[in-house]
Amino acid sequence: MKIDCRVCGGVVETAVDLGRQPMANGFLRPDQRDTEHFFDLAIGMCERCTTVQLMEEVPQEMRYHSAYRYQASGSVGHRRHFAAIARHFLDQELLGPDPLIVEIGCNDGVMLETIARAGVRHLGVEPSGNVAAVARSKGVRVREDFFDEATGRDIRRTDGPADVVFGANTICHIAHVHSLFAGIDELLSDRGVFVFEEPYLGTIIGRTAFDQIYDEHVFYFTVRAMHAIARQFGFEVVDAEHIAMHGGSIRYTLARPGRRPVAARVGELLAQERAAGLAERATLQRFDATISGLRVELVELLRSLRSAGRRVVGYGAPGKSTTVTNFCGIGPDLIPYIVDSTPEKQGHLLPGTHIPVLAPEAFSEDPPDHAVLFSWNHAAEITAKESAFAAAGGRWITYVPRVAVTSAGATAALAG
Ligand code: SAM
Ligand code: TMP
Ligand code: ZN
Repeated sequence: MKIDCRVCGGVVETAVDLGRQPMANGFLRPDQRDTEHFFDLAIGMCERCTTVQLMEEVPQEMRYHSAYRYQASGSVGHRRHFAAIARHFLDQELLGPDPLIVEIGCNDGVMLETIARAGVRHLGVEPSGNVAAVARSKGVRVREDFFDEATGRDIRRTDGPADVVFGANTICHIAHVHSLFAGIDELLSDRGVFVFEEPYLGTIIGRTAFDQIYDEHVFYFTVRAMHAIARQFGFEVVDAEHIAMHGGSIRYTLARPGRRPVAARVGELLAQERAAGLAERATLQRFDATISGLRVELVELLRSLRSAGRRVVGYGAPGKSTTVTNFCGIGPDLIPYIVDSTPEKQGHLLPGTHIPVLAPEAFSEDPPDHAVLFSWNHAAEITAKESAFAAAGGRWITYVPRVAVTSAGATAALAG
């Protein structure tokens, strides 16, 4: 299959195919099991600008609405991370007489609550009404909307230029990239910065984190691709740094050309990407073969444990778990339930494979023999919280970067 690149119009051909999949956060009530939307989950690389992107997309209104299940404040790690970046903005960027920060995709207010408490002018743009309401309850000012050119122009008219526009795990979700950047151009002040943190293709390939590929992630950025994107839309990448979120993301800083010095580490990352072949289609094709092998290994492990009479459940139901279970064909026969701390997911079925999602008490009150750690990026937090499981002989199963089972009684945190 071939499509036109959403950024530059170049040719994008399928390179990694994960088959028919439902929406990753489309958790179902038990009576909704026949109403799911499926699509072909596959990615390809633009042969001109090198941006990796979904071949087929799910309309944004189907993904983000008042039943959106993801709540960003669900882990201590995320709360700490976003409080720290908010303090960074307060200390470094929001120092003028009446500064303004706008967050695209503020979700439940995990970042903006720190800004609101500091009394600094802010606005969250968030289309999912349920999480927008949670943010408002924390004193965050929210506009319930999708960000695009018209929204950017409107905010500029009512609130004036923004010193910072921020987005985390949101910019790669926005398929209308031309309208997005036109909106940033309307909104950003002359010396302002557009800062965003997104999953990194280098991590997905380097750590075999194929479960980051799902409907919401329309783009899989690299510094090189972002360079081309920024240039096309009249901006410049002035900084790019590795951060530990979601197993290894990149925080990009864009500014109007010539307005900010370019950090040396941008060039270093570009060199690392060249060495890793991240702009080559063949790299994606090798990755496709690697994950097919991983699928066989994981399913064989789960089948052999079942044959041996072992009880295996899942821990954590992030969007990532939808990709893995659907790609591998893992249903309730192999994993009878998954526990997750998000109240909105509990009592629901995992999309596609319909594995029931239960509260974490189901796990601690009746520990299984093995647990597949789907929330592997929170491994340290979860294995510490559930240390009694391993101490009693329970084994964690991970599959990133490869299929592995912790040794008996191992209480040490897994690599997150
Ligand atoms: N920023 C939080 C974080 O990093 O944990 C939340 C990320 S969540 C995965 C993505 C959020 O972006 C959702 O709350 C979704 O409703 C919102 N979103 C999606 N498209 C958007 C758009 N065009 N404009 C603003 N927000 C959008
Ligand atoms: P995320 O990596 O996209 O933030 O998703 C993490 C998921 O893992 C989310 O559904 C909440 C869940 N989770 C737990 O169930 N228990 C925990 O202790 C943590 C940290 C996360
Ligand atoms: Zn392109």
